[in-house]
Amino acid sequence: MKKDQWIMGIETSCDETAVAIIKNGREIASNVIASQIESHKRFGGVVPEIASRHHVEQITIVIEEAMNQANLSFDELDAIAVTAGPGLVGALLIGVNAAKALAFSHNLPLVPVHHIAGHIYANRLVTEFTFPLLALVVSGGHTELVYMKEHGHFEVIGETRDDAAGEAYDKVARTLNMPYPGGPHIDRLAQNGSATLDLPRAWLEEGSYDFSFSGLKSAVINRVHNAEQRGEVIAPEDLAASFQESVIEVLVKKTERAVVEYKVNQVLLAGGVAANKGLRRALESSFAEKPEIELVIPPLALCTDNAAMIAAAGSIMYEKGVRADLSLNANPGLAIELYNE
Ligand code: KG4
Ligand code: ZN
Repeated sequence: MKKDQWIMGIETSCDETAVAIIKNGREIASNVIASQIESHKRFGGVVPEIASRHHVEQITIVIEEAMNQANLSFDELDAIAVTAGPGLVGALLIGVNAAKALAFSHNLPLVPVHHIAGHIYANRLVTEFTFPLLALVVSGGHTELVYMKEHGHFEVIGETRDDAAGEAYDKVARTLNMPYPGGPHIDRLAQNGSATLDLPRAWLEEGSYDFSFSGLKSAVINRVHNAEQRGEVIAPEDLAASFQESVIEVLVKKTERAVVEYKVNQVLLAGGVAANKGLRRALESSFAEKPEIELVIPPLALCTDNAAMIAAAGSIMYEKGVRADLSLNANPGLAIELYNE
């Protein structure tokens, strides 16, 4: 009988210190997250220096907790997988150094993982991949359509040219005086509003799978400021619903078009904005009409940053023979295609 594979994942690219242990690439043995959101809230966004300090304080505790919950000893692990990029360099470095220390002291292979590959592989904790597939990645830092013909092989067919979808959500929320991160607040408001405002949709050139959200974000901010100057009242619910409709329409239409052109079997939703109720509903209703294509949406806890997804991607990268030595450095601009054959 084949021996079970146990991979530890470490994630510190932004404001969550997270460590998880995954069995055979798909089963969560432990998934521990120490969130720093409360510390960043009063600044309206993530402060890199504060993030690094929190990671330093939390990382050892979170590693211990993940090992305890999984009830494992280090000699039972097969590898340490860690987010090497992209992200905040000072934040990434804490995870990378912790991973290097563990790999060195326990003589374990070190596997570098791309953060977005992690978001995509959160879906493999839900169901097995069937290729070719398309992943719609929508997070605070990224908005991408990624085509995969096989495990560990990533082709970015479209990406944002300016703001990421989550970033636009956070900035619009800030204009409406809502706390960071604003995505969930806008989502909640939008459920109670109607999309009555006419806001732009950036389709870009014919055939492009790229995105752009900065024009939409500016249009919302201008509407709010103009209304304030004129003493008009725009219901925040309607503004949220109109903004959300504009974001979702572009995301869903471009995904639908790519699915046909690339003839995929599966569509995966990934990243923090995948927690958005409106987006989940719109994709579900679109793909309900296309039963030949399987739509996979991770549970909320696996949409936002976590380490289970890093271990899940790490499991595949480990099997592909991807390794780093102790010279591994954090790379804030790491490319996802790096390990394509
Ligand atoms: O993937 P993630 O946890 O971190 C990055 O890798 O960026 O994504 C965080 C982003 C934030 O911008 C947050 O506002 C957004 O995900 N987000 C949402 C929702 N929940 C989180 N955006 C819209 N609707 C939500 N329900
Ligand atoms: Zn993320």
